[in-house]
Parts: sequence; C-alpha cells; structure tokens
Amino acid sequence: PPAGGRGEALRGKRVLITAGPTHEPIDPVRYIANRSSGRQGFAIAAAAAEMGAEVHLIAGPVHLATPPGVTRIDVETAREMAAAVDAALPADIAILVAAVADWRTADAADQKIKKTGGALPVLQLAENPDILAGLAGDPRRPALLIGFAAETEHVVAHAQAKLARKRCDWIVANDVSGDVMGGQNNAVHIVTGQGVESWADLPKDQVARKLMEKIADAVR
Ligand code: CTP
Ligand code: CA
Repeated sequence: PPAGGRGEALRGKRVLITAGPTHEPIDPVRYIANRSSGRQGFAIAAAAAEMGAEVHLIAGPVHLATPPGVTRIDVETAREMAAAVDAALPADIAILVAAVADWRTADAADQKIKKTGGALPVLQLAENPDILAGLAGDPRRPALLIGFAAETEHVVAHAQAKLARKRCDWIVANDVSGDVMGGQNNAVHIVTGQGVESWADLPKDQVARKLMEKIADAVR
C-alpha cells in the first residue's frame, strides 16, 4: 500500500485543534458571539483521527457530535479556550480553526441587566488573548502551527499579512462574505511561506481530508 495510507499517515502525532465560536458573557442570560458552526474544525478533527493522529479538540459552544477517536474539551469563552490549549500542550501540530471572539465585556454583570426607561446600557469591551500568536511565541510551539482566517474582502492579501503578524506556518483563508459561516461548503486558500494554493469550493469534510493530507506530507 502507498505510504501514508488512511489510518497510518499521522500515527504517533499529537494534534491540537480549536473549533467553533466563543461566547463572551454580558450578563447571566446574554452573550457576544459569532456565526461559526464549528463544522470545519470538527471535520478536520475527524480527518486527523481517521489518519491515526492523537487528536485533542478544544470546542467552543457548538451543537455537534464528537468525532470517533477524538478527545474533546468543551469551553465557552476565549480565555477558557486559551487555558485549555495551554493545558493540552505539547503538540506536534496545532490547527486553530476557532472563531475566537476578539473582545469580551470588560466586566460581565452579575445580574440580568434591566431596562430602566432612561439611559441605554453601554458595553465596555476588553481585548481577548490571541491564542495563535501566543502559541507562536511559546517555547512549546508545535512544529507545524496553522491558523485560519475568515475574511470578507482582500482574502489572500489579508491572510498573507496575518501569516507574518501571527508568526505561524500556514494560514487557511476563506471568504466568508457569502454563507460559509454555518454553511456546508468552503473555498479556501492555503497561504504559506512558499506561496498560495487555492482550492475549489468543496464540502467541509473534503476540505478537511485534503488539508490533513497536505499536513501529513509536510510532517512526514
Ligand atoms: N485567533 C486566536 N485567538 C484570538 C483571535 C484569533 O487564536 N483571540 C486565531 C484564530 O483561531 C485563527 C487566526 O487566529 O486561526 C486568525 O483569526 P482572525 O480572527 O482571522 O484574526 P485576527 O488577528 O483576530 O484579525 P481580525 O481583525 O481580522 O479578526
Ligand atoms: Ca478575529
């Protein structure tokens, strides 16, 4: 059989994946969120496990089943996700697919915020930790560190800038101006130091398998 066939290509590799949105509480009943479904990240976790990897999937709040053979850690906020990533290290490969909320409320209210009939409530925001940039600068940095980038314009140019800024190895960029977030398909550009590879619009599970095959080639 060809080297790197299904079930063997990533045997012995520890793969860390983040997926889904994060929820940032405003008060006990409200939160800041985004449209990420977690589907692309879960499909990548499934594909990695099928190829024999030891997969740790750190998932934001999503309604998806855990893929077979995957160790799943559920989190809600960006700060919980950052702590779970830290606890899951070391890893050979990290693929950060999560749509991490860039901001949280500076101070979530302990009780439900009520209408007062007068002044509108003001949300004071604070910036969340950048998990990808943090991993890039960590002494335990995975040998292959991959970020995702959801863009609505200038997709490749923004991804190239992100690759440099975050000091990761690859950025998988997609155009989310349509219904990609929460949708079934994804058209991605793989941006690396070597150049850009653009793939046709494919179902998310096929994007996942193709990406994991490219990763297996890179770490072989
Ligand atoms: N990311 C992360 N932690 C954050 C924000 C983003 O780990 N606090 C990761 C995402 O999981 C993704 C990559 O960084 O792999 C790029 O996320 P993106 O939101 O596109 O980048 P930002 O630097 O937040 O830039 P933007 O202003 O475009 O949102
Ligand atoms: Ca962001």
